[in-house]
Amino acid sequence: MATDALKSSRLSAGAVQALNGLEAARGRTLALVSHLDDEQLQRVYSPLMSPLVWDLGHIAAYEDLWLAHRHGELALLRPDLADLYDAFETPRAIRGDIEALGPRDARAYLEAVRTRTVETIAERGVADGVICEMVIRHELQHGETMRQTLAIAGLLPAVDAASLARPLRASETPEEWIDVAAGPFEMGAPADGFAYDNERPRHRVQIGAFQIARYPVSNADWLAFGAHGGYERREWWSQQGWAWLGEQDEACHPAIAAGHPQAPACHVCWFEAEAFARAHGARLPSEAEWEKAATSAPLAGVGRVWEWTQSAFGGYPGFVARPYREYSEVFFGDGYYVLKGGSWATDARVANPRFRNWDLPQRRQIFAGVRLVRDTA
Ligand code: AVJ
Ligand code: FE
Repeated sequence: MATDALKSSRLSAGAVQALNGLEAARGRTLALVSHLDDEQLQRVYSPLMSPLVWDLGHIAAYEDLWLAHRHGELALLRPDLADLYDAFETPRAIRGDIEALGPRDARAYLEAVRTRTVETIAERGVADGVICEMVIRHELQHGETMRQTLAIAGLLPAVDAASLARPLRASETPEEWIDVAAGPFEMGAPADGFAYDNERPRHRVQIGAFQIARYPVSNADWLAFGAHGGYERREWWSQQGWAWLGEQDEACHPAIAAGHPQAPACHVCWFEAEAFARAHGARLPSEAEWEKAATSAPLAGVGRVWEWTQSAFGGYPGFVARPYREYSEVFFGDGYYVLKGGSWATDARVANPRFRNWDLPQRRQIFAGVRLVRDTA
């Protein structure tokens, strides 16, 4: 393969690392769809999700835009496809209706873009490496998005289904609470190294004492909540949450009853998470509390499911959009809540305690659960 020849030539360590990262991400993407036929790739399984073939074309277009065009100063390989694969020009709800590339052409587009990327990196290197890292993580993040689609379709590869179902502990034990002392906390990513714009600038926050659960809430806990009137008792729900509940055909996501009792509850929305916490005399952590606990306390189970926080998604004081507003800034103040930690489907290159994910409070397609906190008595 051309990449191997290039890697043995006069490339900087940063460039070799970037090429390896790109190659690994691509391996994961292709493996994820290798068991699917064309019809499965093109089908819309949920109005919330793109057909999988759209993600493939979008991954290629993003790489071409950032690495060949912006970094390498080449013309776009397929300017005719730019709008089609732009997430804002072509929102998810209409991605099933448009004339996009078919599976075969989307794979060829991925490959053609990659050839130019490798040439560009061989010629110019990766500068500070930030754009390349962003492109690698973009593809990996779409791997998780595609797994959400596959979960809805009942098409998750067996190894993924197994990692989703893995229990947190052998049996249900009484809740263990970990004390986190009051004190200042440096929130967000440091100024050096790769981080998304929304993780900066690092800033000091004062946090009171609190207690946090060692484990995320399990499927068994969630079923008990349902059995004890969790979806009927108005007093546990916010007004918006109660309105959301009224529109649902089934209260609890079917994955909760179907899952291993000791696996973390997954596919719960923010409204449900909040009601569950209230029913247990607890609350959702603020983002700052969560980040402080994850970087200083022995939490178990971090990285199995995204953990909802009570914090609305917004910019830290002094936020600067970089390198583009559509990664984060356009979502600020728009009713999104922050999720932390990462799920079983999040690549290790993406997940870290500073990383901020976000979604709307009614959404259950993401691999999200809850870890409770409460005020220290
Ligand atoms: C950070 C997961 C909310 O999926 O909208 C993918 C990641 N950004 N392509 C999303 C992302 C651009 C983003 N999340
Ligand atoms: Fe994207």
